[in-house]
Amino acid sequence: MKEQMLPAKGKLGILLPGLGAVASTMIAGVIATRKGLSKPVGSLTQTGHIELGEGKGDRFPLIKDFVPLASLEDVVFGGWDIYEDNVYEAASHAKVLDQHLLDALKPELETIRPMKAVFDRDYVRNLDGKFIKQSANKWDAAQELIRDIETFKKENKVSRVVIVWTGSTEKYLEASAVHESIAAFEAGLKNNDPAIAPSMVYAYAAVSQGIPFINGAPNLTTDIPAIVQLANKTKTPIGGKDFKTGQTLMKTIVAPGLAARSLGVTGWYSTNILGNRDGLVLDDEQNFKTKEVSKLGVLEDILRPDLHPDLYGDLYHKIRINYYPPHGDNKESWDNIDIFGWLNYQMQIKINFLCRDSILAAPLVLDLALFADLAQRAGMYGVQDWLSFYLKSPQTQEGVPAENDIFKQLNTLKEVLRNMMKEDEPEFNTVKHIRAAEQVIG
Ligand SMILES: NC(=O)c1ccc[n+]([C@@H]2O[C@H](COP(=O)([O-])OP(=O)(O)OC[C@H]3O[C@@H](n4cnc5c(N)ncnc54)[C@H](O)[C@@H]3O)[C@@H](O)[C@H]2O)c1
Repeated sequence: MKEQMLPAKGKLGILLPGLGAVASTMIAGVIATRKGLSKPVGSLTQTGHIELGEGKGDRFPLIKDFVPLASLEDVVFGGWDIYEDNVYEAASHAKVLDQHLLDALKPELETIRPMKAVFDRDYVRNLDGKFIKQSANKWDAAQELIRDIETFKKENKVSRVVIVWTGSTEKYLEASAVHESIAAFEAGLKNNDPAIAPSMVYAYAAVSQGIPFINGAPNLTTDIPAIVQLANKTKTPIGGKDFKTGQTLMKTIVAPGLAARSLGVTGWYSTNILGNRDGLVLDDEQNFKTKEVSKLGVLEDILRPDLHPDLYGDLYHKIRINYYPPHGDNKESWDNIDIFGWLNYQMQIKINFLCRDSILAAPLVLDLALFADLAQRAGMYGVQDWLSFYLKSPQTQEGVPAENDIFKQLNTLKEVLRNMMKEDEPEFNTVKHIRAAEQVIG
């Protein structure tokens, strides 16, 4: 693969359907980093190291020095939204970043303006933006998106484009006949089939043109046979769903630890409050259901009650999300975990995470975009399940079970990067190796 890998030549366009809190926080962060005003904390591509085998020079290089990623200097941003706000206005509205930082970035941020969105209010009932394409049908909407992408490429002189969905969570939808094949889907686009969500129109437009598409929300979007088939046909990397941040991030860090110690879990109650626009959207029952389904799977996959009925057979898992405007983007989550140990003695763990939703999500968008571009240049296509590390409800290749344990996910990701570059696995089985690693990592 190393010999076939195309270099990261020219500029990379990162297009984002949904220029809201997460997208604007990511864009502002990249520009702040470029200007030397900040560090890209939380981004594995920018700050993470990778362990290599013996005798290969630097055994712990930075990931960005090991694989040929696009440089932050070469990245250009664009996107779509149902509101006309430029990224400076969107970021100011989101109130995630300090206004004085946004003001320092204003000249760059205000030049990034959304293109008109493909939107259907039936899918996101709590938003009423008017900056929307008036297409005759969903097929025409997809063609307009393809033209938008071409115009963006020309105007910004970019050589490659990737798309990451940072738009709102759409209402709950199950895959049906129209999603089953490319032909059925294309007919559905022309017939304006109501089961084709706006996010799927973006995914179709991108993938039909060979543009990688990653879905950061819990909507189905790329997780339907039609888009998977199209991605294989056009040799395009796709992936999803739902950025792994906040409470689920904590869950997939803590649960593998409990399982590693063979401690039992009888209950895991998770509740949280958030007051941003995402919280407003999720205040609708149908949109919450999409999120709930995405969040519920992780514990079963990590704890495997089928293999350990005595430890996890009675697990009760409950999740609540409550819209609470005073907290804005500063989501607060509470977890009550009922566990048991030796001779079934009961214990409890309480986690109160005062997090910042978009601060956690922004570096994931950047990493996913850079890795999706890398995958394409490495000749990889179809579902990129090695990117599960970033995702709450990983889409996998057919027949492959999802992995939710964050440590296993990170191992897989690094393993894929080593394979791309034809490097050996490290051998961390001696004290010498561990000490060497500690010295480098600090
Ligand atoms: N912040 C996190 O930690 C986190 C974690 C996991 C997933 N997510 C998901 O990421 C997405 C973005 O989150 P956010 O906090 O930025 O929300 P947000 O509401 O601030 O931004 C979403 C933007 O998408 C726009 N939009 C909606 N439908 C659109 C369409 N069809 N085309 C173009 N634009 C559209 C909205 O107008 C809005 O500006 C949400 O789906 C959220 O569930 C966020």
